Amino acid sequence: MSRLVVVSNRLADPRKPAAGGLAVALGETLKSTGGLWFGWSGAVVKDGTPGEGELRVHQAGPVTLAEIDLCQEDHDAYYRGYANGVLWPVFHYRLDLANLESGYLSGYRRVNHLFARKLMPLLKPDDLIWIHDYHLIPLAAELRAMGCDNRIGFFLHIPLPPQQILAAIPSHEWLMRALFAYDLVGFQSEADLLNFSHYVKAEATAETIGAGQFRAFNSTVQAGAFPIGIDVNEFQRLGRAHEAVDTYENTRTEYSRRRLLIGVDRLDYSKGLPQRIRAFNELLREYPENQHSATLLQVASPSREDVDAYADIQHELESLCGAINGNYGDFDWMPIRYIHRTVARKRLPGLYRACDVALVTPLRDGMNLVAKEFIAAQDEADPGVLVLSRFAGAAEQLTQALLVNPYDIPGTAQAIQRALQMPLAERQARHAALLENVRKYDVHWWCGQFLQTLAAVR
Ligand code: ADP
Ligand code: G6P
Repeated sequence: MSRLVVVSNRLADPRKPAAGGLAVALGETLKSTGGLWFGWSGAVVKDGTPGEGELRVHQAGPVTLAEIDLCQEDHDAYYRGYANGVLWPVFHYRLDLANLESGYLSGYRRVNHLFARKLMPLLKPDDLIWIHDYHLIPLAAELRAMGCDNRIGFFLHIPLPPQQILAAIPSHEWLMRALFAYDLVGFQSEADLLNFSHYVKAEATAETIGAGQFRAFNSTVQAGAFPIGIDVNEFQRLGRAHEAVDTYENTRTEYSRRRLLIGVDRLDYSKGLPQRIRAFNELLREYPENQHSATLLQVASPSREDVDAYADIQHELESLCGAINGNYGDFDWMPIRYIHRTVARKRLPGLYRACDVALVTPLRDGMNLVAKEFIAAQDEADPGVLVLSRFAGAAEQLTQALLVNPYDIPGTAQAIQRALQMPLAERQARHAALLENVRKYDVHWWCGQFLQTLAAVR
């Protein structure tokens, strides 16, 4: 059996909770496979040297964690600047928020080179290497240039936009060429895979030479859609533990006469939070029977606060929630409980279970694991309803959710009203179908499919 080497920018101790789909999914995966997890430690060294960083290796259960520090200049150019100021907005279809004139590309390349240099000595000849997400697109090319001949796979956790959007990045050709240094490239959805296929055919005159095999730039790459999932058994086990049960009971007691709606997100402009709050406002206006009855619990964990667009979204959200609570709230009822924090993972299943409706309404999302967690946490006899954006990768799989266009505020409000009024039999039927899907395509399926495909290429 080959050892699994996972590389990602964000690392998490798999024994501890994390917020963010990548860290949660990789933590679950590595807990069962064991292996090496290499990535940024999260520490920024104020006066360090660009392109350098201390590496620390330690054991966390079955996983060896290899963590590297970044100096301030590298962090600013690679993580804040290029990854989150250019790639994140463009890949989420937001050219308006992308800092395309910035000179951050050299920092992005420098840190990818640094990762390769520090990782090379840790590698064994038959390791399977699995690199994750937009921070590390050129990492395989760097490793190949240093003589690495291992099988290397790449998984993009975020969407891949259409060719016409991608091509707005000045270095788009270099970036996409870098994907051809991998043996296997995985996307979240068929839509992303189609965008990849269109791009390489249009911009690089790629030929398809077999199912999912593309030839361009003198290389061949296998590409496929591998929708990520959650660890359903683990999440349900968490749901039976006392922290989740207490959370469920306390929430139901606190809001005994209310219908509860829930949103759980990183505070990110891709999540469609202002649109969601406006749709909730529309619900209260259009369907006034929900006044003094429906309460939205919105939990948004702080994220990337040193990137301007994130500070802006925070202010917008606070003022929207304040206005609605001011307009509609009363001494005994507040329409929105907005919490700018990360909830302990142990409490999440109880919170989801206590709620009647989940609002998962991103403007664009690679997958969205909150949608799957909400389904896994429900009481099968009396389940809640999932309102899901058609622009989340999860919508390709979770077709029995109430699918909405999050830009359409009245349409979303109408779907929320339908969710609140849905008869028990329909809720049960939809939930059963959704749970079957979430269970079948869980995180172990995702990991198994990707690694089996990677092991079989060449
Ligand atoms: P993203 O990866 O863009 O953050 P996902 O929905 O795919 O979005 O994954 C988010 C993960 O982080 C989920 O496992 C979710 O439970 C967790 N999470 C997100 N926001 C919070 C929060 N405010 N408190 C606790 N956990 C959170
Ligand atoms: C998304 C990205 C991940 C990232 C996570 C949290 O899930 O796909 O790569 O780790 O958000 O963001 P952060 O910037 O805190 O790592």
